[in-house]
Amino acid sequence: MAKKGKKRDKSESSGVDLQPTGIDDLDEILQGGVPEGSSILISGASGTGKTTTCFEILSRAASNGESGVIFLTSETPERAIANMGPYEFFSPSLVDDGKLVIEDMGETYKHLGIEHPDTGLSQEDGHKLLAAIEKAVDDAGAKRLAIDSLTGVLASFDNEGRVRSFLKQMVRTFTAKGITLYLTSELPPESVRYSSMGIEDTLTDGVILLSNIESRGDLLRSLQIIKMRGAGHSRSRYVMDLTQYGIIIVPVLKSYTRGGGE
Ligand SMILES: Nc1ncnc2c1ncn2[C@@H]1O[C@H](COP(=O)(O)OP(=O)(O)O)[C@@H](O)[C@H]1O
Ligand SMILES: [Mg+2]
Repeated sequence: MAKKGKKRDKSESSGVDLQPTGIDDLDEILQGGVPEGSSILISGASGTGKTTTCFEILSRAASNGESGVIFLTSETPERAIANMGPYEFFSPSLVDDGKLVIEDMGETYKHLGIEHPDTGLSQEDGHKLLAAIEKAVDDAGAKRLAIDSLTGVLASFDNEGRVRSFLKQMVRTFTAKGITLYLTSELPPESVRYSSMGIEDTLTDGVILLSNIESRGDLLRSLQIIKMRGAGHSRSRYVMDLTQYGIIIVPVLKSYTRGGGE
């Protein structure tokens, strides 16, 4: 189902500029891509492909000359580079050339003098953290920013009010600059929610849900677009396969659509 070509489209439904994710099958499902400068939550349990999805999107854009920054909370940049090694879309030269900037969130906390993020970030810490992320994006001249995982960052705030205000401010800051945000949310297995805290999905423009589905004894990965403000899209569930050539997405034979909608 892959359709080649990286043409920038306008959404037929809203007229906003669509920015391809670079994952051809995903762009087809999204009828061109995600609205430029939008905030997209990529939610799913462990191993469903959140990190790979972020890296494929940012690596393909970087190969196309569009810089990206990715902040990691639970693995070092070295480890992530090693994990991405087998994928064709990734090359360490993207990192060496500064087109793909991989930042270690733990190091960022240290630079900011936040010694114990686990014991609770203050609102002031949140402002400093956001300023540091913004600086990394500005320095790289990035068009895309990924935070993997957002859950790892939000878990450092000790109350829901701070979580909300930090996330709102982050979305506002980067939306205003036209930077597309990809934020990952870690869900427990079998979760019926779309985000780890149950609020992130309400504050972002789009939600892509990754899951594990069992089919005849096999564990398959699946992808479903739950919402995408400003863009038309299918709400069907698809089977997602991680191959050395990148992510491939095919319709589930017996696909179904959830009721509701935006
Ligand atoms: N080169 C590869 N080809 C196919 N699958 C891979 C490859 N490398 C890793 N994987 C699979 O990807 C999974 C990890 O996906 P990842 O994007 O890290 O998920 P998440 O971030 O949601 O935890 C691993 O469990 C492994 O099965
Ligand atoms: Mg991950």
